Amino acid sequence: MKKIVRAKILENVKVSGEYRKLKILAPEIAKTAMPGQFLSLKIGNCLTPLLRRPMSIHKIKPPYLEILYKVRGRGTELLSKYKINDYLEILGPLGTGFQTDGAFKTAILVGGGYGISPLLALQDRLKKLNKNIITVIGARSAKLVYKEGFINIKIATEDGSAGIKGLVTEVLDNTCCSLKVDAVVFACGPDKMLKAVSLVSQKHNIPCQVSMENLMACGVGVCLSCVCAVKKGLTNEYKRVCVEGPVFDSKEIAW
Ligand SMILES: Cc1cc2nc3c(=O)[nH]c(=O)nc-3n(C[C@H](O)[C@H](O)[C@H](O)COP(=O)(O)OP(=O)(O)OC[C@H]3O[C@@H](n4cnc5c(N)ncnc54)[C@H](O)[C@@H]3O)c2cc1C
Ligand code: FES
Repeated sequence: MKKIVRAKILENVKVSGEYRKLKILAPEIAKTAMPGQFLSLKIGNCLTPLLRRPMSIHKIKPPYLEILYKVRGRGTELLSKYKINDYLEILGPLGTGFQTDGAFKTAILVGGGYGISPLLALQDRLKKLNKNIITVIGARSAKLVYKEGFINIKIATEDGSAGIKGLVTEVLDNTCCSLKVDAVVFACGPDKMLKAVSLVSQKHNIPCQVSMENLMACGVGVCLSCVCAVKKGLTNEYKRVCVEGPVFDSKEIAW
């Protein structure tokens, strides 16, 4: 059940690379939030930015929630200025979470850039379910790699400044080749990466869930600005990433 709350800020600090971590006190949202869901943040008290900003839930530890973010523009720049004991209006939890039911033994988490964020909350959930976890992190360079809290990590950077030089999908492909047990791939990152991850998973016949990061305006299913094309029979239809997603079965998406 989504709620609007005034959340008290407990921490808003630079962490590794280009990332910042925001810790908030939001008991009403934290108690029902699921890995893969997101929050919609009203940043600032003036008209700009007018729209709320969507952010994945990075860690769920009731009564606390954490967000991992990268400063991109006006909204996230303003967010980085919030101090301890300031309040932030947030709406959440929003969207669907990752599906963790099922008899699979190994979970392969694939994160690109800030797409790594929701995978930490997912990892916490999968640990409780006693799944084996492999984390594959991809980024353009070392300063965009965020790995704090993750286990069994493999890294690929485009410039070779961390892990292997290459794409996250090459690491995923090798990982899938050496798997001997049932697995599920859970991925979050840019569209291009998600499409490639989906193809690799399909090649190995491994189910894959992708968390999409389409641009959003309302965040609650009204404006249709976030839609993505999904397959329906021989044609496509559109689904709202903010309500029917952000997590989808990768086979459903009309890439
Ligand atoms: C479901 C969801 C979860 C997200 N989770 C996170 C997260 O955990 N951490 C994080 O740092 N960011 C996350 N984002 C992206 C985040 O919402 C944007 O970076 C933020 O809204 C940018 O706001 P801004 O005012 O700083 O920048 P703006 O001035 O609005 O934009 C700056 C630049 O960022 C680009 N941008 C804005 N939104 C997106 C987007 N959704 N995808 C790709 N590019 C975008 C713009 O095109 C522009 O080039 C998420 C987005 C969605 C939809
Ligand atoms: S952001 Fe408005 S419908 Fe999804």
